[in-house]
Amino acid sequence: MSTYNEDNRKVTTHRLIEMKQRREKIAMLTAYDYSMASIIDRAGMDVILVGDSASNVMAGNITTLPITLDQMIYHGKSVVKAVRRALVVVDLPFGTYQGNSKEALNSAIRVMKETHADCIKMEGGAEIRESIERVLCAGIPIMGHLGLTPQSINKFGTYAVRARDENEAKKLVEDAHLLEELGCFAIVLEKIPALLTKQVSEELAIPTISIGAGPYADGQVLVVHDMLGINKEFSPRFLRRYANLYETITEAVSHYIDDVKGQHFPNEQESY
Ligand code: KIV
Repeated sequence: MSTYNEDNRKVTTHRLIEMKQRREKIAMLTAYDYSMASIIDRAGMDVILVGDSASNVMAGNITTLPITLDQMIYHGKSVVKAVRRALVVVDLPFGTYQGNSKEALNSAIRVMKETHADCIKMEGGAEIRESIERVLCAGIPIMGHLGLTPQSINKFGTYAVRARDENEAKKLVEDAHLLEELGCFAIVLEKIPALLTKQVSEELAIPTISIGAGPYADGQVLVVHDMLGINKEFSPRFLRRYANLYETITEAVSHYIDDVKGQHFPNEQESY
């Protein structure tokens, strides 16, 4: 059991900023359903992200692009019902906020009203400035997301580390400052060099959360299916596997099949 978080008060955006101030690292994982969210929350997680990675790990799509707002709301509602303590963040999916700030506001309001989540996450910097401003004006907290932003994978054409070159690194630092100035309460930094994460994290007062962006961020996030070893195919260098559930589940399921075929299940005690 985690030794942290004996403080059972609900985590708020304000408390995350306080955690950064006292240098307490922020632990964040994704969840997409009631049962998993319930386990993760009771274990003491600070932040649960209903990520649009649901498109990959729940729906089997190759990218995050196909998932819809209705599908994100379905996952968001299921997670929120389970969570007592963690801050719940729901991703706005591709195509629901980038082009038009009014649409961004409508999407964010739907997420907040229908899921009862605490806040939303949006990918991008200066390009989505108007959408960020409009959503924040409605009192909806935003977590930003810079670096390898998976909704732009077709523009990048590769999942390689971002912001290795000077121009891209400079833009990322400018975007991070812009997100802070606009009023975002935290920023996910995905797959960028560790020293760039260090610079951004030191320059900003709001917390940074790393995924593949090294140890200097104020917190870390992983996709729960990846860190539990449910996915066998995905093994980037940044991923640490804390369990091998693919093998565990396969073993349990094979055992069950054998028991059914061999008429060992159910036995007398398991019957009425
Ligand atoms: O959708 C997601 O899971 C994410 C994380 C990778 C940060 O955005």
